[in-house]
Amino acid sequence: MQLVTSPSKLQKICLQWRCDGSTVGLVPTMGYFHEGHKNLMRIAREKADKLVVTLFVNPTQFGENEDLSTYPADHEGDAQIARDLGADILFIPDAGSMYAKDHATWVDVPQLAKDLCATSRPTHFRGVSTVVTKLLILTLPEYAVFGEKDWQQLAIIRRLVRDLHLPTNIIGGELIREKDGLAMSSRNAYLTPEERAQAVHINAGIRAGAAVFEQGEHDVEKLKAVIRAHWQRHLPLGKEDYLEFIDPDSLEPVTTITDKARCAVAVYVGKGRLLDNWPFYL
Ligand code: PAJ
Repeated sequence: MQLVTSPSKLQKICLQWRCDGSTVGLVPTMGYFHEGHKNLMRIAREKADKLVVTLFVNPTQFGENEDLSTYPADHEGDAQIARDLGADILFIPDAGSMYAKDHATWVDVPQLAKDLCATSRPTHFRGVSTVVTKLLILTLPEYAVFGEKDWQQLAIIRRLVRDLHLPTNIIGGELIREKDGLAMSSRNAYLTPEERAQAVHINAGIRAGAAVFEQGEHDVEKLKAVIRAHWQRHLPLGKEDYLEFIDPDSLEPVTTITDKARCAVAVYVGKGRLLDNWPFYL
């Protein structure tokens, strides 16, 4: 595995691969790998001849008072994991090489980058869309794999790739959980033992709603009430950021589930803001 830090060098290698007829699979990350990241790497490894993993804590997707400076990092451990999973390149650029001082070009998908995570993080998805577009242009992958844990992010990336005619197939990797149901996240490292013990109830609450849904309750307000009641009882350290039922593709809110809805949530627990989502499909 080659460690690459220069964007132009990455682009040169990937262009050469493409000219030689090799396909590239891309997995963009911010590092501190867990099974969720590893699963995306396995998917890309299987699909493409060459696997490029990127590790960049992208400053433009963090708000002013967010955790950019304290984001967990373990470059050596991550490099070992990427190597073991067969990555050909691990790309770790510095912020200055990705964003010139007078960087002025942004990619934005406002129709999808509203509500949900955008309410508390209004500039977040503009940063994500811009950096993902850069990474796609640098590597021109046949496949790029993103996790379903970040449902809104995945929808936005699918849309921007389609709208900009980028020559890449976007693949969604299933949400990987801890044994007790908590969605894996690099940010789970922020949790104290007490917070970690309660955090399991983010998902348990959603599943309590899903059980009532299975019994025939399709009214979203009633399902939300079941989930909130569970959280109030078992997750006193949590503070809801949002709890929404949305159309899985358009992300528009759903009030009665007549076909397919995705329950998407964000909950503050201690220093972490944790995401989860769950299918409510008839
Ligand atoms: P990061 O949070 O490091 O996540 C990298 C990729 O791993 C994303 O596609 C994310 O959805 C996926 N992922 C994280 N936890 C997962 C889990 N439990 N199950 C399945 N997939 C999971 O998301 C980002 O970085 C950044 O926004 C990025 C796309 C790299 C742009 O900077």
